[in-house]
Amino acid sequence: MSTETKNISDLYQNWDALEARATQWKNQTLAQAFAKDNNRSARFSIAAAGLELDYSKNHIDDDVIALLLDVCEQAELKTAIKKLLRGDNVNNTEQRPALHTALRFLNQPETEENKAVADALDKMAGLVARVHNGDWTGYSGKKITDVVNIGIGGSDLGPRMVTKALTPFHTDDVNVHFVANIDGAEIFDMLQKLDSESTLWLVASKSFSTLETLQNALTARAWMLDKGCPEALLHKHFVAISSKVDKAIDFGIAEENIFPMWDWVGGRYSLWSAIGLPIAFAVGMDNFNKLREGAALMDAHFAEAPLEKNIPVIMGLLMFWYSNLLGADNQAVLPYANHLQLLPAYLQQLEMESNGKSVNKAGERISYQTGSVVWGTEGSNGQHSFHQLLHQGNVFTPIDFIAPLRAHHPIAHQQKYLFANCVAQSQALMSGRDLEASKAELRVQGVSESEIDFLAEHKVHPGNRPSSTIIMEELNPTTLGALIAAYEHKVFTLGVLWDINSFDQWGVELGKLLGTHVATAIDTTDIPTDWDSSTQNLIKRFLNANN
Ligand code: F6P
Repeated sequence: MSTETKNISDLYQNWDALEARATQWKNQTLAQAFAKDNNRSARFSIAAAGLELDYSKNHIDDDVIALLLDVCEQAELKTAIKKLLRGDNVNNTEQRPALHTALRFLNQPETEENKAVADALDKMAGLVARVHNGDWTGYSGKKITDVVNIGIGGSDLGPRMVTKALTPFHTDDVNVHFVANIDGAEIFDMLQKLDSESTLWLVASKSFSTLETLQNALTARAWMLDKGCPEALLHKHFVAISSKVDKAIDFGIAEENIFPMWDWVGGRYSLWSAIGLPIAFAVGMDNFNKLREGAALMDAHFAEAPLEKNIPVIMGLLMFWYSNLLGADNQAVLPYANHLQLLPAYLQQLEMESNGKSVNKAGERISYQTGSVVWGTEGSNGQHSFHQLLHQGNVFTPIDFIAPLRAHHPIAHQQKYLFANCVAQSQALMSGRDLEASKAELRVQGVSESEIDFLAEHKVHPGNRPSSTIIMEELNPTTLGALIAAYEHKVFTLGVLWDINSFDQWGVELGKLLGTHVATAIDTTDIPTDWDSSTQNLIKRFLNANN
């Protein structure tokens, strides 16, 4: 294998032209672009699958888009999309497909995957119905009142985010909870709220070997026994979702209570499978299926729409442009919907675990940036936290604003303030306020000229800060499914343009391995002296504090 590193300019013949446009965009403003084109917003907007993407407040123009579409042609993106959707081994380091789209294909031809998905959905529907209608009871005969999902990463973030996002659709048949962290505090706090007689535990782990999940499941099992559940009746309180059926059985889960996961679905793409059981328990199978339908609508759009009118492709091209030509190493997702408050955390895994790579598909080291730091908080809260930096800081952060137009609750008169703030933030970031406008503002406030000379500079908003805005009529299972699928396909688009594998995650292994070594050193108090002094000292401090 060659030791030389691949540069992004090696991949694309029009790189010089792209760099020239990037330089031009560093010397022109969005305000100027809007001033010379009254139709800019309409020209740079796409509506599909219940979503509307307005990407006009980005540092792009027709030339830039044309050059980026040329990049797609050179990267053979259309072919790559076909390979993804038909189940080719796009995950080339594990020789696996990435067929999360098969989890939401509706009425598709009888492939092996679609049959397996249909069977799993039937099994899910049966369990949810039995628990909801009281046919499934606990060891003392009580109806189940609480369902607790024990899982982490892709076995937690997606179901947790969707369950929160669809709060208005909760059937309230059962209370749904989530436990993920190895920190015993999380499950301890949870146990205080539960009745062992009416609690159903979902052990969600594709590998069934994740330390956090197994430890929490063992704690839950011990608690059940301690509370009086006969060992012979534990099976009434434990369900597993895993691709490792034998490991789940060895743990003590009854085989009939094990729901399948498959190697052709990545963990962070799996909320559409039985990993989504907490969602189905919370909102019912009908709404879970509407979530899948929304994603299927976006899948069809991604497969069929011309690239220049393709929402996930444009989202991907914008981040490619910002990451590799305009120097952005981070991106903010700001959902102006309190129920979407967990979306940024979910997207962190989706984007950063998929594309945080430094080797291309062929195993060659790459010098260019892939994946970026994804962060964000629900609006309008962020305005009272980090928006100062977004407006006046020297950090370049492209932003996705996400805003439902209608509220899903009776306090709907406040929706206009929420939406107004979302639009105003994108407008202020784009237009800014120059020195003269700052001075004029201070004069209107009656500030003295000497004070103005001092203060005005501090009140300048540089502006020219890009954002996209995604709106939807309302946040419901269908539009949420489409939104999540749009980000999944954005991530895939970026992986293709960067020539990386978005579906493996070798970078999580070393930390896990060393974690077991440190835990052993703590258990045995035998700290290897060839470990660095920091690690040794920290372990000694832990031992001193706990012995
Ligand atoms: O973070 C590493 C990872 O393997 C994720 O990719 C995955 O979603 C998570 O851990 C949980 O894995 P599992 O579902 O196998 O417990």
